Amino acid sequence: MSKNIKRIAVFTSGGDAPGMNAAIRAVVRTATYHNLHIYGIYRGYEGMIAGDIRRLETNTVGNIIHRGGTILKTSRSKDFLKKSGRKIAYESLLAHDIDACIVIGGNGSFTGAHVFSKEYNIPFIGIPGTIDNDLYGTDFTIGFDTAVNTAIEAVDRIRDTADSHNRLFFVEVMGRHAGFIALNTGIGGGAGSIIIPEKTTNIEDLKRLLKKSAKRKKLFSVVIVAEGNKLGNAAEIAEIVGKELDYETKVTIIGHLQRGGSPSGADRVLASRLGYAAVDSLLKGHQNMMVGVLNNQIVLTSLKDAIKRTKKVKNGLLEMAEILAL
Ligand code: F6P
Repeated sequence: MSKNIKRIAVFTSGGDAPGMNAAIRAVVRTATYHNLHIYGIYRGYEGMIAGDIRRLETNTVGNIIHRGGTILKTSRSKDFLKKSGRKIAYESLLAHDIDACIVIGGNGSFTGAHVFSKEYNIPFIGIPGTIDNDLYGTDFTIGFDTAVNTAIEAVDRIRDTADSHNRLFFVEVMGRHAGFIALNTGIGGGAGSIIIPEKTTNIEDLKRLLKKSAKRKKLFSVVIVAEGNKLGNAAEIAEIVGKELDYETKVTIIGHLQRGGSPSGADRVLASRLGYAAVDSLLKGHQNMMVGVLNNQIVLTSLKDAIKRTKKVKNGLLEMAEILAL
């Protein structure tokens, strides 16, 4: 156990994700168990710069495991991108005698931690919290499962109305530059086609596929579109494809609905495991690592690899989805 770490700070950063509260709870309770003083930095790196740092107790994190969003609030800080901002942030941590930080967030948040830890000697541990699931070194990020469930529920509802009117729906989901949400929503929602950034979709092939479905009297269809794909957004694709088809075409953007809501059981368990592992890793002397889960085992990956390396879509999943949609 590292002798030097007595006071640690936890914060959430970037887009909120369901399960972040469960992770905060696990961090606070594990740290308290080890007699550490635990502080919350409010509003992510913005709050670190502003010195918005407050003591957290076991009771502060009571009754939050089931709540979406983040009790610590979050931000995408422009000032932290600047050296001058990071200097003020470091001074805030010094003023509160913070020995180490736990950051719950995604790629941008870990990039901030990676840069900061090179400039200043404060150990960081990252907990992957983003609905996008786009971090290398973990099979799942906190919030992904809930977001996919929310999107599938939306697709189920769209199927009802699409079926009733014989319509073709293009449903756009989030994911930034990654297609994990789209792929899983498409498979779980029984989509006719899935368009993701990781695979180039040929617009002519898509038209042919949808025409073929229409010919075999498939009365409606749902196409899932990942926001980061290269063909365009759902409205643009619908415009190009819709003209040539017998279906009436509609577009739905699920948007921020995917980010809110009570975390799923899987996300609560994942967040609890990772929060616990983050404190444990700090105490074992690890720094500038991300805690993740690979094949259901807790694994540490350097923050550098987590942000720089690309997580691949599981082999064969898209092909499987195409066969199941026939
Ligand atoms: O990273 C999470 C995410 O929801 C992405 O899927 C999306 O592209 C982005 O954040 C939206 O960010 P904002 O809420 O700042 O518009």
